[in-house]
Amino acid sequence: MNIGIDQISFYTSQYFLDLRTLAEARGIDPNKYIIGIGQSKMGISPPDEDIVTMAASAAFPLKQRGALDNIETLLFATESGIDQSKAAGLFLHSLLDLPERCRVVELKQACYSATAALRMAMGLVAMRPQNKVLVIASDIARYKLKSPGESTQGCGAVAFTISADPRILTIDPEAGFYSADVMDFWRPNYLSEALVDGKFSTLTYIKSLKASWKQYAEESGRSLEDFSRFCYHIPFTRMAAKAHQKLARGISEENLERVIGESLLYSRDAGNCYSAALYVGLTSLLDNAEDLSGQRIGLYSYGSGCVGEFFSGVVQPNYRKSLLTKLHQTMLTERAELTFQQYEDIYHYGTPTDGGTHDFPQYRTGPFRFAGLQSHKRIYEKT
Ligand code: COA
Repeated sequence: MNIGIDQISFYTSQYFLDLRTLAEARGIDPNKYIIGIGQSKMGISPPDEDIVTMAASAAFPLKQRGALDNIETLLFATESGIDQSKAAGLFLHSLLDLPERCRVVELKQACYSATAALRMAMGLVAMRPQNKVLVIASDIARYKLKSPGESTQGCGAVAFTISADPRILTIDPEAGFYSADVMDFWRPNYLSEALVDGKFSTLTYIKSLKASWKQYAEESGRSLEDFSRFCYHIPFTRMAAKAHQKLARGISEENLERVIGESLLYSRDAGNCYSAALYVGLTSLLDNAEDLSGQRIGLYSYGSGCVGEFFSGVVQPNYRKSLLTKLHQTMLTERAELTFQQYEDIYHYGTPTDGGTHDFPQYRTGPFRFAGLQSHKRIYEKT
């Protein structure tokens, strides 16, 4: 039985900061960001947009086309958790009017957890092929102001359904994976920004990639030539390029662009979307490449701390009919640009913790907004 991604949808906030603006404010050569890091803009979520509203907005187009009927399980992957106890997906359960007979769970392992969700979803569908699982990855990448990580912030969510006989991508059973207890990136519960040993994180990303690929290649018998394209976890686009250069030693710039170029387009403008980043790359590839029907693509998921996994899938005939390309492209081009002052004001807004009643200012969002807080309860509304 073939199992894989049946539908996929991407959402990012309606605001961005141009990295040239950040470079000017920080007194840094903009080419460090544009060329050295490979990022042009970063998505910024206003006070009334959070991981729940982004996730709901990503899933909403799937709901509209009936793809969420018969959903039995919702797996919500994030490392920007809003509650230590309640799964963020339960807020979505009401916003999206999901069936009562639906399991809802939140998963965490830095940027890797959406891939764990995908694997679990495949197991559930293998047991009951008539059912579908909704996987959502949603995150806000946030580092200290003026830190090296600042230019690699961003935000976004990807929602995808896993089913039997999927219309977009069947996932191959083979996988190579690797875990190690390392402190390359983490966020203690009492901090609202991630801590990162940046250079070390890029090294563990590569170490884990090499181990995962080696296992995958041994198990599947495939080599790099068996793939038409590759999608990597994208904390910033240069990282994905460097990763592929490690696997395909001596690859020309032209070939590198051919095999990963289309997958980097959305991330260059949305910034790091943590657990969603690999799937933003996959969406970008499918939306922007020539017809890939029948072709195999390689995927590498990495979450600091760390877990990595290399896996693969085959693009299905007529998959383009299922894509939301126009919606994604319009969303990215219609975002509003922030001034540097607006960016810093939003950064400092913070979530009140006093248990009082707080109505948040209304910014532009998707079909849902985080309206405020009341007695420590988050209030969401449809816009
Ligand atoms: N023009 C072109 N390139 C330039 C440049 C300029 N004017 N100035 C610097 N660069 C290049 C550097 O040579 C370097 O390229 P290289 O990596 O190929 O050597 C790149 O830009 C980054 O510069 P660097 O000085 O290494 O950046 P940094 O010390 O400020 O930090 C990160 C870079 C990625 C470590 C930092 O952004 C970070 O910590 N990010 C968050 C963690 C993360 O995303 N980790 C990824 C794994 S999950």
